[in-house]
Formats: sequence, C-alpha cells, structure tokens
Amino acid sequence: MAALLPRGKRLGLGGLSQAPLASPPMSIARVGIVGSGIMGSGIAETAAVSGFEVVLRSRSQSTADATLAAMEKSLNRQVEKGKKTEEERDQALARVTGTSELDALAGCDLVIESVVEDLDVKKALFADLDRITGDDAILATNTSTLPVIEMAMQTGRPDKVCGIHFFNPAPVMSLVEVVRPLTASDETIAAARQFAEACGKTPVEVKDQAGFIVNALLFPYLNNAVRLFEQGVASVADIDSAMKGGCGFPMGPFALLDLVGLDTSLAILDALYDEFKDPNYAAMPLLRRMVTAQQLGRKSGQGFLDYRK
Ligand code: 3HC
Repeated sequence: MAALLPRGKRLGLGGLSQAPLASPPMSIARVGIVGSGIMGSGIAETAAVSGFEVVLRSRSQSTADATLAAMEKSLNRQVEKGKKTEEERDQALARVTGTSELDALAGCDLVIESVVEDLDVKKALFADLDRITGDDAILATNTSTLPVIEMAMQTGRPDKVCGIHFFNPAPVMSLVEVVRPLTASDETIAAARQFAEACGKTPVEVKDQAGFIVNALLFPYLNNAVRLFEQGVASVADIDSAMKGGCGFPMGPFALLDLVGLDTSLAILDALYDEFKDPNYAAMPLLRRMVTAQQLGRKSGQGFLDYRK
C-alpha cells in the first residue's frame, strides 16, 4: 500500500505525530490544485492545513493572489474562534504558492483539478498534466459527475488517474468520494484514500458512474424542490424551513443550491440525465433560466435567495 507523508509532517511542521512507516513505496508531499473556484480554494486550504505543500494554479496571477488572500481571511477567522493558533495559520499559509503557470505543477506528487465542469476542458488539462508532471504523479479530478475514465484516457498513465471528490465547503465537510475508473490501480486508490484521511476526511470508494453516491441521491431531491416551487406548492423560504425543521438538514434545498452554485447544479443534473436518461434528473426549466440570467447563487449575489444586502 502506498505510504503518504505530507512534507510538513516530515519536517515536524504539521503538528500531528505519525508513526514511522516501514518502507513507503510512494510519498505524497506536494499537491497541485488546478482551479481556484469555491472547491479548488477549499481543497487547497484543507491540504495546506493538513501539512501538505500546495501549489495552487489559477488562470491569472491576480486570481491566484486573491485566492491566497481569501484563504488567509478564512484562517484568520479560525484563529479568532480559537480553532487554530497563529503559528498554525502562518505555517499553513507558508505551504501554499499561488501561480498562473501550469508548469509550476511539475514537481507535484498529486494534482487535483477542480476547473469548470466541462469535459473538453478537463480532457485537455489532463493531457497537459500528463506531459508536465513526473511519471509517478497521481492525477485526480474533483468532478462531481463527469466520467473519470475520459480524463484517464487522455494520459499515458490511466492506472494513476482517479477521482478525489470533496464537498462544499471543503474545509468543513468530512466526506471525500474516491472514484475508481476501470483503469485505476489499487495503489492509486489506496494513495487517494490515504491522502483524504491525512486531510482529516472520511473516504468512501465508488465506481466511476455519474453522480457517484452523493450527487446521484442529492440532486433529484434538489431538482424536486425547484419543481415544488415552480408548481406554487410553497415558497422558497417555507420549503427551506420545512426540510430543516422536518428532516434536521443543516440547510434547506434552495440555500444548498445557492451554495453549490446554480450553474454547477445544472451541469450536474445535465450530466446525470445524459448518462441515465432518467426523468428524475431532467433539470427544471426555472433552474436553466436562472443560469441563463446569471443568477448563480451566492457567487453572483443572487440565486433563489438574495445575498446582495
Ligand atoms: N470555510 C471554512 N469554514 C467554514 C466555511 C468555509 N467556507 N463555511 C462554514 N465554515 C465553518 C464555520 O467557521 C463554522 O465553524 P465553527 O462552528 O467551528 O465556528 C462551521 O463551519 C459552521 O458554520 P456557520 O456557523 O457559519 O454556519 P452553519 O452552522 O449554518 O454551517 C455549513 C454552514 C457548514 C455550510 C452547514 O450549513 C452545512 O453543513 N450545510 C450543508 C452543506 C452540504 O450539504 N454540502 C454538500 C453540498 S454537495 C457538494 O458539495 C457536491 C458537489 O459536487 C456539488
């Protein structure tokens, strides 16, 4: 089984003690993250806090810098709440480099892409990552629904490609889905599981099928909430209240759609529908029209709820 040794921990920076491992055949110390949206930045923060060196690649240096500034703000909040010390914050920030150069990922042992949910974009990226990174590097996707095998087959190392799917907000949610395409080796899956555990997460393994576990179950529910609203059965506020109060969910379906992003939610439903042709996955017309209107949820300031005040 692959052994995983975050560099910070090796140098005693991570603060966690780790029993010596007999003879590690593989070591993940430096993690590349491609994409600095909600998920990419959350995964970068999670990995840095967990002792990994992180190279965060954004399309422009200014976005990379802004993401690092937002990460500092998030860590500052945790210091204020007494959940982290100033030293832990500073060490985590010192482990992260922001860049616009894809070539800066050359020395990474693991790269996780979290760019737009567009298969053509991801396929081109995997071909580039295959060229740039060392032969032993694991290449992973944080896709919610797209076929991991399509990305794996763009590389000369399909055995070293898998899905590592975090949940939003990544620093908080404890689950990681480790997605096994037909080509992945047991070593790759074991290393991905170990990486998730080293990030303090609980990994579950799942077949490379659209929606994996969580989104295959979650999105029909979210879509049906939009249906109820479109049918005039109840208001957004009352549907959210009902699911919080009646089911103990931490947030209602509309607050969750806005958190995930309506564009991402629509892309997930479309990918599920493409794969299964199940009417349960057919996105509600209102959702599609809100995306066209650029009402994307929290990130645009307006979705089913209004965040502009
Ligand atoms: N980064 C870091 N920490 C955050 C955070 C963020 N973005 N958002 C919230 N937190 C922390 C807060 O600091 C707080 O910590 P504390 O209690 O120790 O002080 C804790 O999380 C709770 O936050 P709040 O008190 O601000 O607010 P809530 O209690 O309402 O919790 C929530 C917010 C964690 C988002 C909670 O509402 C929740 O769990 N919602 C469900 C989220 C969910 O279902 N996510 C999965 C979406 S599906 C998905 O991601 C799949 C993808 O493919 C689309």
